[in-house]
Amino acid sequence: MSDKLFIFDTTLRDGEQVPGCQLNTIEKIQVAKALEDLGVDVIEAGFPISSPGDFNSVVEISKAVTWPIICALTRGVQKDIDVAAEALKYAKRKRIHTGIGTSDYHIKYKFNSTREEIIERAVAAVKHAKKYVEDVEFYCEDAGRTDNEYLARVVEAVIKAGATVVNIPDTTGYCFPQDFGAKIKYLMENVNSIDKAILSTHCHNDLGMATANTLAGVLNGARQVEVTINGIGERAGNTAMEEVVMALRSHKEFGIDTNINTPKIMDTSRMVSSLMNMPVQPNKAIVGRNAFAHSSGIHQDGVLKNRESYEIIDPKDVGLDENSIVLTARSGRAALKHRLGILGIDLDQERLDQVYEQFLKLADKKKDINDDDVLMLVDKDRAMKHRIKLDYLQVTAGVGIKPVASICLDIAGEKFEAAASGNGPVDASIKALKKIINRQMTLKDFLIQAITKGSDDFGKVHMQVEYEGNMYFGFSANTDIVVASVEAYIDAINKFVK
Ligand code: KIV
Ligand code: ZN
Repeated sequence: MSDKLFIFDTTLRDGEQVPGCQLNTIEKIQVAKALEDLGVDVIEAGFPISSPGDFNSVVEISKAVTWPIICALTRGVQKDIDVAAEALKYAKRKRIHTGIGTSDYHIKYKFNSTREEIIERAVAAVKHAKKYVEDVEFYCEDAGRTDNEYLARVVEAVIKAGATVVNIPDTTGYCFPQDFGAKIKYLMENVNSIDKAILSTHCHNDLGMATANTLAGVLNGARQVEVTINGIGERAGNTAMEEVVMALRSHKEFGIDTNINTPKIMDTSRMVSSLMNMPVQPNKAIVGRNAFAHSSGIHQDGVLKNRESYEIIDPKDVGLDENSIVLTARSGRAALKHRLGILGIDLDQERLDQVYEQFLKLADKKKDINDDDVLMLVDKDRAMKHRIKLDYLQVTAGVGIKPVASICLDIAGEKFEAAASGNGPVDASIKALKKIINRQMTLKDFLIQAITKGSDDFGKVHMQVEYEGNMYFGFSANTDIVVASVEAYIDAINKFVK
């Protein structure tokens, strides 16, 4: 029998902290339910004191989810813990995740404190959380850069105070795998009460080693890993759940396994990517579009003779269904509904009809409709409900002429027109748009991606627009990339122009 590794998912807390990835409560519930289906053990649902929205999301996720433990984050401060306990009141199984920085950087510069005082504060936080819940997790923030001897004293103290799980985060993504592994080993060997708690890893990916560090921690005794879907998270992200899970499934010799229902990985990955408007890089391990695509002749030949010559994972094990129904212009609503279902999207009849209409238009332009296309159509349907919509756009561009754009926006049913020139078709279109929506907004990020290789392809556009110090994310997709760019800009504007 294999040793169980607990999966603590923090997509909705650490993952959701990424600028532009914020979800509303309904979307968070959708993700939480998908995580439950996937088989995660713990869902970190938010940081309740940080905002009323986060508080409310923890409340609603607690009501919506049955099996996983619902966890709420706090600083090691009484007020935070009181608010987290209140937010968790409907959770069937609950955990408070409290903690404090333990590296000398944090102790000296963040808290202007001493090592002894930090231990006292840590113990007080755990004891306070214990008044509300049995299951208390303690994080030693910046444990990656905390001296091992002192870290062991903190871990010992918080376990004695009642912590059931102790989290050892590599907050800055600084560690090398052998050092992180050695840290966990040191704690396993030098904390007397270690058998009364579980050690958890929480690795960031700043040096591209989050998965390696997490696995090093596991091989040295950690039995919980803190991860996100697709590895999303601030800066270079957190440890990707799918990578850790599939690494252990592929290496059964370690005798460590998780409860994850791996054929659901792909759908969950797509759902998170689509809801958070966070594209997955094509060569991303396990869930990237190219992760199972063999293009070289030698590899194709080898795979055709025997899959295992070049594949260490059967694509079906992560939910890539090769026998999926191919969607074309001749497909009916039932086929579309089936594909949406596989992607974890449930539309009512009215929305299904609207998406189907768009689907037929697209299928006229594009031979094969793939999953990314279907997800984009669902997204377009969302855009139809916007207050500000693109009515028409006409652009003249080419060699030897100055690009000019004429635009018409529909704002709550009223039409507004403008024209402008620019240094390219997108620039001209956005300048024309800004004549109508006259606000101090700045385009901060602009990403165009093609989905497949054909010239009939859809271009996906992601934009970040800054307005009054806040960042708003916009997304669209169209076979015309200028239109997609303008629609993405409008998508972002709809988030702040009411
Ligand atoms: O990276 C980190 O240290 C964290 C803690 C708050 C757990 O996210
Ligand atoms: Zn973190």
